[in-house]
Amino acid sequence: MINLEVENGLSIHPSKDIISTKGEQLKGKRIVLCITGSVAAVQSSEIARMLMRYGAEVFSVMSPMAQRIVHPYLMEWATGNTVVTELTGKIEHVALVGEHDEKADLVLVAPATANTISKIACGIDDTTVTSVVSTAFGSNTPIIIVPAMHQSMYNHPILTENVKKLEALGVEFVGPRIEEGKAKIAETELIFDAVIRKLAVKQDFSGLRMLVTAGPTVEHIDPIRVITNRSSGRMGVAIAEEALNRGAEVTLVYGLGKVASPSRACIISVETTEQMFEAVVSELESKKYDVVIAVAAAADWTVEKPYSRKVSTHKLDSLNLKLKPTEKIINRVKKVNPETFLVAFRAEYKLPKKKLIESAYQRLLQANADLIVVNDVSKKGSGFGTETNEVFIIDGNKKVIHVSLAPKKVVANKILDVVNEKVKPK
Ligand SMILES: Cc1cc2nc3c(=O)[nH]c(=O)nc-3n(C[C@H](O)[C@H](O)[C@H](O)COP(=O)(O)O)c2cc1C
Repeated sequence: MINLEVENGLSIHPSKDIISTKGEQLKGKRIVLCITGSVAAVQSSEIARMLMRYGAEVFSVMSPMAQRIVHPYLMEWATGNTVVTELTGKIEHVALVGEHDEKADLVLVAPATANTISKIACGIDDTTVTSVVSTAFGSNTPIIIVPAMHQSMYNHPILTENVKKLEALGVEFVGPRIEEGKAKIAETELIFDAVIRKLAVKQDFSGLRMLVTAGPTVEHIDPIRVITNRSSGRMGVAIAEEALNRGAEVTLVYGLGKVASPSRACIISVETTEQMFEAVVSELESKKYDVVIAVAAAADWTVEKPYSRKVSTHKLDSLNLKLKPTEKIINRVKKVNPETFLVAFRAEYKLPKKKLIESAYQRLLQANADLIVVNDVSKKGSGFGTETNEVFIIDGNKKVIHVSLAPKKVVANKILDVVNEKVKPK
């Protein structure tokens, strides 16, 4: 492979410091990101950076028209690698994806114009991008195309035919998203998911159905005020995302979390613990779930008699609320489906390690859970609202696995590794 690293005397460009900061699923993978002349090229740097955060090395190739919309400096900054803006004596297209040991693992055309899609379908190579894609066809390098254009261009019958032709040749299309009369580029997350799938990143959960609960629930005092907790939903969403990346079919019962839910999951949005409880029971009764991972910080207390109108402070000096415990979701799971593999979560505050583990183990027995994951949220970087977590995973034999402080994505994968060892998908 050609050395396309910056030719400024530095062996490592400072922009590469983000590589693998979020995960390692794409570690060691080299992706050629081809950019064509669509305004959606403004999203290409974000796409490149997301792939890098999961370990990929990204090389950009820009068509002449793309360079008139976004300057190659942006992509050089984003990837830390020299951008291919023309084909020279270095035969960059062959260096990147020709038939040799160091060819890239994937060609991603994002955004792809109507022009470039049709040219690829007709085997024309008259730009940097079309030459790279043609070479990729010949060397059996996987190709993903992410179209972006006005809907009127997208509806052209010849383009429709060309898309079908390319699909029949094994090219994967992601999107477009039809909105405001445009066939817009797919969301970055969907493009990322397609890349993960295409590069067959550990699909050890394929064929397995999983139910994940995440986020906080709220209990109403009156129609405006609620009692809740500081959960952001980040840990549960990370588990759902990683399970999806590893091939599981995921339903996410999501409370009022602060982080976006993964678009590939089936999302059931809930507010209160009772709604979460009902959603979980109804899912378990209607489908066969192989695994339930109950990460949600469901409110443990609810107001016995919530007010139906806003309680005004002008009329009251104080307000007494009587709280009653909510029904425990994890206690019900095995009663509805004893076959389900149940992973419970527990948050503790300032407990010595021995007590932390003992109390979690007792909770595991009580809920008849198969695993319990416990953390001490008083620890720095651990628990609610943080990007990282430190947990102990305990099984039915009281075997304890310590996962030291790491990004929640990494912790999610460690938990899924333990689940995978115990639940062998068909
Ligand atoms: C500002 C601007 C935005 C454009 N956006 C798109 C677009 O989103 N999709 C598209 O297919 N063409 C778009 N075009 C037209 C293409 O740039 C044009 O067809 C060009 O020949 C594509 O060349 P390329 O496919 O080699 O990049 C746009 C043109 C301009 C000037």
